[in-house]
Amino acid sequence: MEFKLENFVRPNILDLKPYNSLRESFTDEDLILLEANENPFGKFNRYPDSKSVKLRQKFSEINDVKPEQIFIGNGSDELIDLIIRAFGIPGKDSIMVMNPSFVMYEFYGKVNDLKVEKLNLNQDFQIDKEDFDSQIKTSKSKLLFLCSPNNPTGNSIANLEYFISNFNGIVVVDEAYIEFSKEISAVCLLDKYPNLIVLKTLSKAFGMAGLRIGIGFASKEISDLITTMKPPYNVSSENQNLALENLSNDENFEENLNLILSERDQLKEELVDLKIVSKIYNSDCNFLLIEFENVELVYKKLLENKIFTSLRHPAIEKCLRINVGNPSENDSLVSVLNQLSK
Ligand SMILES: Cc1ncc(COP(=O)(O)O)c(C=O)c1O
Repeated sequence: MEFKLENFVRPNILDLKPYNSLRESFTDEDLILLEANENPFGKFNRYPDSKSVKLRQKFSEINDVKPEQIFIGNGSDELIDLIIRAFGIPGKDSIMVMNPSFVMYEFYGKVNDLKVEKLNLNQDFQIDKEDFDSQIKTSKSKLLFLCSPNNPTGNSIANLEYFISNFNGIVVVDEAYIEFSKEISAVCLLDKYPNLIVLKTLSKAFGMAGLRIGIGFASKEISDLITTMKPPYNVSSENQNLALENLSNDENFEENLNLILSERDQLKEELVDLKIVSKIYNSDCNFLLIEFENVELVYKKLLENKIFTSLRHPAIEKCLRINVGNPSENDSLVSVLNQLSK
């Protein structure tokens, strides 16, 4: 069946007219800007570029897609909320999320008064094709959130293209951690699947969580839709500029990434034989999912030592998700867990 975007978008969103900033249609330097009620004085007196033109150009070069296929959010968290709001009619529609997966899909689903359908992962934290097939037969979900590599399980999800091509609705592939893996980005599938949205972020491998930059990739139609409905000035000028500067001058990107990956392997090696550790899952991310014999005790002891780890996800109660830190932070972690194992 041919995919028609208007069959999935909320009618009130489809009717929105884009907010156009007059000055953004001009490139002259000597414009007299009296149209936006700004203060003529001050260092930060002007509103930011609402279309993030330079950033989108940069991401277009990095990811080999057209700038028109890119939309920018105040972190990918904002994009998740915007996408859910664009398609899900509150009190009526539902979304489908993997379980366990990143909790914000469910959170924003609930914020927007949508039902949240769970697609349970199997023992290997993969989606069984048979389970998927039988669930979508009865499902009315408009959106499917796939997270690959998945937070909090750490693994990449197999058969993504099968799920994208068989789901009757919008499929979001969240690739927040893809740079830590050897997987190929689903961005290369965009031309083939008009129902696909791919999300990336500068918060993880790029080390810019404080700048709050999330990047969406989709058809031009979907990108225009999200850009139309987003708050016009959602990413500050300073953050846009800093992100651009960092992306252009980050000579340490590869080096830091490789250090995180080698620290991840080393951490795993140092922890895997400890008495208190039952299992360490393979990770394509910058964290390890570790199952402990007595997870409560471990969590408490780490806290006592001022080491913060992630609260357990309800679907994997015996596990902690532990971020790979810098070498000295990792040494502190190993030392506390070593003591606990004695
Ligand atoms: C899978 C996943 N998606 C999105 C995000 C949010 O990223 P951002 O900082 O861009 O909002 C996170 C953050 O932990 C995440 O784990």
